[in-house]
Amino acid sequence: MGIHSALFAATYDRFMAKTEKLLLAELRRKLLADASGDVLEIGGGTGANITAYGPQVRSITITEPDASMLRRLKRHAEAADRPVTVLQAPAEDLPFEDHTFDTVVSTLVLCGVSDQQRAVNQIRRVLRPEGRLLFLEHVRSDEPEVARLQDRMNWLNRLLVRCDCNRPTLTSIREAGFTVDHVDRFTMPKSPSFVRPGITGSAVCHAGVPSAG
Ligand SMILES: C[S@@+](CC[C@H](N)C(=O)[O-])C[C@H]1O[C@@H](n2cnc3c(N)ncnc32)[C@H](O)[C@@H]1O
Repeated sequence: MGIHSALFAATYDRFMAKTEKLLLAELRRKLLADASGDVLEIGGGTGANITAYGPQVRSITITEPDASMLRRLKRHAEAADRPVTVLQAPAEDLPFEDHTFDTVVSTLVLCGVSDQQRAVNQIRRVLRPEGRLLFLEHVRSDEPEVARLQDRMNWLNRLLVRCDCNRPTLTSIREAGFTVDHVDRFTMPKSPSFVRPGITGSAVCHAGVPSAG
């Protein structure tokens, strides 16, 4: 476990507190109201979403590859008022059979996975036909000037928060064979301009549409 990972995990909740209060907590609540059935959450971090799942969720499984985050996630999962299964795994290599889940949740994760297309293909693989991906991500801007700034500043973003600020995440989701049926754009508060463009929404994997992965 690197010192950078340990430090990131130890400071993550405090670092995010103002942004959560200003907007993210509300976006999480709205997004997860649509989660149902057997749910997989990837890159669960410290467990910020655990309390937002509603009664229409039958089971909750959360994966997280980073050992420092995983310890915090397990503590939150144990304190939850319902069973939560926690596993150590990267999104690029999900340890589940095909068609295991009704909903997959990704919040602030697809910006930081090592191979975004592979991760989205894996999400597609483990979802049941007509299953749903719920996402909340900061992404590459549609405005060319902001996107160029994101490209220039990405080294700093990587250094500070261990992810890319310039990924075309919606394109990766579509390329995996999903139909994006809802997207809202938001602006991340308390962030530098290159981290502000965000999207939240849902995508469906219809039966019969070929998967890219
Ligand atoms: C910015 S945090 C977001 C945590 C949480 N999802 C949230 O909404 O607060 C990014 C998380 O993605 C995890 N992560 C990094 N690489 C990953 C990968 N390849 N697969 C899945 N998760 C990954 C990190 O360890 C970290 O917990």
